[in-house]
Amino acid sequence: MLSEKVTCNSHGQDSSYFLGWEEYEKNPYDEVKNPKGIIQMGLAENQLSFDLLELWLENNPQPTAFRNRSNQSVFKELALFQDYHGLPAFKNALVRFMSEIRGNKVSFDPNNLVLTAGATSANETLMFCLANPGDAFLLPTPYYPGFDRDLKWRTGAEIVPIHCSSLNGFRITKSALEEAYKQAEKQNLKVKGILVTNPSNPLGTSLTMHELDILVNFISSQNIHLISDEIYSGTVFSSPSFISIMEVLKTRNLMNTEISKRVHIVYSLSKDLGLPGFRIGAIYSNDERVVCAATKMSSFGLVSSQTQYLLSEILSDQKFTKIYLSENRRRLKQRYERLVKGLKRSGISCLKSNSGLFCWVDMRHLLNSNTFESEMELWKKIVYEVGLNISPGSSCHCGEPGWFRVCFANMSEETLDIAMQRVKSFVDSMATENNQIFRQKSMNLHSRRTKSLPKWVFELSFHQREVSADER
Ligand SMILES: Cc1ncc(COP(=O)(O)O)c(C=O)c1O
Repeated sequence: MLSEKVTCNSHGQDSSYFLGWEEYEKNPYDEVKNPKGIIQMGLAENQLSFDLLELWLENNPQPTAFRNRSNQSVFKELALFQDYHGLPAFKNALVRFMSEIRGNKVSFDPNNLVLTAGATSANETLMFCLANPGDAFLLPTPYYPGFDRDLKWRTGAEIVPIHCSSLNGFRITKSALEEAYKQAEKQNLKVKGILVTNPSNPLGTSLTMHELDILVNFISSQNIHLISDEIYSGTVFSSPSFISIMEVLKTRNLMNTEISKRVHIVYSLSKDLGLPGFRIGAIYSNDERVVCAATKMSSFGLVSSQTQYLLSEILSDQKFTKIYLSENRRRLKQRYERLVKGLKRSGISCLKSNSGLFCWVDMRHLLNSNTFESEMELWKKIVYEVGLNISPGSSCHCGEPGWFRVCFANMSEETLDIAMQRVKSFVDSMATENNQIFRQKSMNLHSRRTKSLPKWVFELSFHQREVSADER
């Protein structure tokens, strides 16, 4: 009796990414009420600079009381009908903020901006504008698990992975792009474009000029689109600095060309300002037909006037945005380093990164075998025994087992330290367990084969094994 959309399972909700959230919801960690609960490290939320926003609100109480700077009520204006073009004051403030994040090297025209209810809606709307059901977009792996839902579910579009490898730090290469394109053709899928997240979720790295050049050359030669999801652009906390796709178009003198019309940017205030609940996203496109269609579609997910009004006031305070952006980056860097150091104490390393709200953590040495089954086994142990919800690489379509995304900006420093202690005890207990298994196996072997050997030979071999295990 229901539609196919309802009954098909292409939503992606059964991914371990979402299952981990469900487990966390059943048993959430609380320092006082539930100290043995699960710590949520699978949520890319930025709670590090909330105090700065709260202080701004305290010093500027008018917008939340529906009043303008002259203390006159704007309640009626905001409450009555809003058309889908958005408040001009907010669009102006948002494009200015987007330029500021890019070091004012590029500027954005508010007429090319479409407001959406978060980047989720922006990405889906772009799919509706650029792809027919059954058309494909190429995405570098690993990618944000929500894309399976956002890009495919309602639109009927398909994702074909561009397989990136740990051998070169998961960088995008020309051959990987060509291979993905070929794969799509083999599956009889028409490739309409590439979608990248810059900086990457889950890698926490920003794209290099070389990678961006490869991408622009590829879309130019194949006559396809490029969507650059730049939702984490304001989180770049160390070098190399962020290069927006707009900057590449400008440097290569491609602005106002056919190619520039096929490049579209997605943005949102969910990460940089830490406001996912406010649902403020945007599409920036140089193609007026896309802007026009996306504006009409935005009727299905508008940002409320009240939210636009408040944010236009915050973002037009340039003194505030300057302090906020630099302080937020400083705090993210500090937090990133704390996580990297904490994991290192347990012998775990991360991909070197410079942005985002997470680390891409290498736990390949903790797997029983180099398989995704083994990755799931380890993930379950980490969720249920260690009490941490992290996201397995397979949920991000990573091609190599043993990588995990671990978020660091959605909790207090104390909670992060507790999480690191839990990881250390877990890794230590694994080492002890492995030692015991090894001892047992050696005992069996030795007793079968070398019954006549003197006792000191056994003791020596056990001792050597312990030393080498400790040294690891
Ligand atoms: C790469 C990427 N795009 C889009 C989104 C969705 O963001 P929003 O909350 O603005 O819908 C996320 C959220 O995690 C993300 O990581």
